[in-house]
Amino acid sequence: MRVVAGTARGRRLGKVPPGVRPTADWVRESLFNALGQFFDGGEVLDLYAGTGALGIEALSRGFGRAVFVEKDRRAAAAIRGNLRLTGFEHRSEVVRGDVKTVLESLIRQRRSFRLILLDPPYRIAATETGEVLPCLRALLAPGGRVVVESGGVPADGVLNGKRGNERRYGGTSVHIFERSEFFMNVAVCPGSFDPVTAGHVDIIRRAAGIFDHVVVAVGGNLRKRPTLSSAERARLLEKVTGDMENVTVEVMGGLLVDFAREQGARVIVKGLRAVSDFELEFEQAQLNRNLYPELETVFIMSAAEHSFLSSSAVREIASLGGDVRGLVPEAILETVREQYSGVARGELEDKG
Ligand code: PNS
Repeated sequence: MRVVAGTARGRRLGKVPPGVRPTADWVRESLFNALGQFFDGGEVLDLYAGTGALGIEALSRGFGRAVFVEKDRRAAAAIRGNLRLTGFEHRSEVVRGDVKTVLESLIRQRRSFRLILLDPPYRIAATETGEVLPCLRALLAPGGRVVVESGGVPADGVLNGKRGNERRYGGTSVHIFERSEFFMNVAVCPGSFDPVTAGHVDIIRRAAGIFDHVVVAVGGNLRKRPTLSSAERARLLEKVTGDMENVTVEVMGGLLVDFAREQGARVIVKGLRAVSDFELEFEQAQLNRNLYPELETVFIMSAAEHSFLSSSAVREIASLGGDVRGLVPEAILETVREQYSGVARGELEDKG
């Protein structure tokens, strides 16, 4: 194996460690022909790096720095050896570890890469690629690209419906994704949803019409203890958003800003009913902005017919046997009646 082009052109790489399937020289050459021959700085991230040949080729062709991620001890040693052979040690970092764990850490460090190379071992490619791709959103620099290499055509769903620029090199299939295609405009719609109301569903639906993807984050705050568990509240949300293709529901354990970062989201969407909501929302938006300045909070005005509607009102009415039809989506009406009945009555009695 040799470096094909650039400052280390023709330099031989070391022996391939057992169990590693390096990208053949001619495939690397064709791939870089497709990416553009030479580059002008920026960072490259080589995941499942194997021998490091892809990242080294990128360094040789002008990338400024490279991070190689490899779990296998012998392969990581081979990468370090190849970096020594090519003289790129000082422009590189070899991180030994599980790709998903390392990605989480890179996201926390707010790193950003112009090129991300993803070449998982073919036997795990189907599951790993599907899981890793969404994490890359947060790591892709403006103008950046993601390259996914796989043996044969990736199974349906692995590329999350993305097409990319597909190329076949013998038995190897390569997808190149431009940031614009790859980087969806993701928004997080957070709330305690105890329970989800018709007003929430309206806001989520309208957000789904604006953003490529909306992640509904079921959380809570230390000021109020929800009646239902987060898993139960998430189940209700899944039921009422089931017809929205670009909406997913997740339970959020920690801080909203951390959750947004993990999801690769740059926007928080909240519904605003009246001036009375403003004070708390303003406070939360400012605090979140302090914690994560790139994260914007966007407000969607409630429809007039929902301006009086709140989860706390639904809880109280349901628990005292009142009719919540029209206040919560029809699909969860019975569940809300059952699960909240008697709760507030008990609470009211407790309080005398
Ligand atoms: O429906 P709610 O009760 O207004 O939702 C509040 C929620 C869940 C959005 C908010 O409490 C939140 O963001 N919780 C996560 C913890 C966090 O990040 N707290 C600091 C934000 S000020």
